[in-house]
Amino acid sequence: MEENVLEVSKLQKNFGKFKALKKITFEIKKGEVFGFIGPNGAGKSTTIRILLGILRASGGQAKIFGQDVWREAVGVHKKLAYVPGDVYLWPNLSGGEIIDLFLKLNQQKHTVKTDELIKQFELDPTKKARTYSKGNRQKVALIAAFSTDAAFYIFDEPTSGLDPLMEEVFQRNVLQLKQQGKSILLSSHILSEVEKMCDRIGIIRDGQIIETGTLAEMRHLTRTMITVVTKLPLGQVAQLPGVHHFKQELSAQNENRATFAVDSEQIGSVMAQLATYEIKTLQSTPPTLEDLFLRYYQKKEEDRHGE
Ligand SMILES: Nc1ncnc2c1ncn2[C@@H]1O[C@H](COP(=O)(O)OP(=O)(O)OP(=O)(O)O)[C@@H](O)[C@H]1O
Ligand SMILES: [Mg+2]
Repeated sequence: MEENVLEVSKLQKNFGKFKALKKITFEIKKGEVFGFIGPNGAGKSTTIRILLGILRASGGQAKIFGQDVWREAVGVHKKLAYVPGDVYLWPNLSGGEIIDLFLKLNQQKHTVKTDELIKQFELDPTKKARTYSKGNRQKVALIAAFSTDAAFYIFDEPTSGLDPLMEEVFQRNVLQLKQQGKSILLSSHILSEVEKMCDRIGIIRDGQIIETGTLAEMRHLTRTMITVVTKLPLGQVAQLPGVHHFKQELSAQNENRATFAVDSEQIGSVMAQLATYEIKTLQSTPPTLEDLFLRYYQKKEEDRHGE
């Protein structure tokens, strides 16, 4: 039987009259990287704060390794490593001192791995935390989390302050944890940032989970934007199944240039057809979270009209 690391059931959080979480339910299986995706204000950090025992839920349940995140917070924390959305550091301690303090608080030790991580993330550990940028503060928390030996890792928008190179370092470390069979919750508001790493994704919006599944399962909801220049005129492309919003432009060099959207399910057959027109250049833009949302809502509308 598959073991669940995390079980969230009808979880609610009210701030006064405001319902930040409206009975959300999802689970994370052992060894899984789960992407928790949603726009600003969707409820990601609120959920994570409840999981960490920082906030108390207004209703429902959340369990990590079968233990209640509020009542059994101490037990839960022994198996956790996490990086919060807003990293707070002691301003008068150096980055290195804080990393060691975080490790100590988690009954962990500074190891060779810690030094490796400091190098990988290019952090100067001798500087006082008050001089650190947002990205550097995030690095301190990430280094401490990655050098912690835990069973379950929780990251709340960990790459929002990191440059693309550092984002890669982050992704590499997540994949390493995954290879070791660890379970990971990764929140983000950018789909493309997590799709490389995540086994499954849960989409949250306005305090509600609107979809969970593998990216493959959600592919039917996504479209890729294509801009292509071909040698031969793009006769039939507009009529191909899965092609939408086809626009043809004549460019200065008298080339055949077109832009259109393709349903991800049809991308193979459309590419095969395009190749017959002798492709000169091709640019594709992957589906964004907004696009996924739009498609999701359009689909719901279509389903409703089809009834
Ligand atoms: N302490 C609080 N008091 C009142 N409202 C709150 C509080 N914390 C969060 N909220 C509200 O709850 C909603 C969810 O916020 P949350 O921080 O969970 O969003 P998020 O998905 O993490 O967004 P972001 O991507 O911007 O980090 C927001 O509308 C926010 O204003
Ligand atoms: Mg947040």
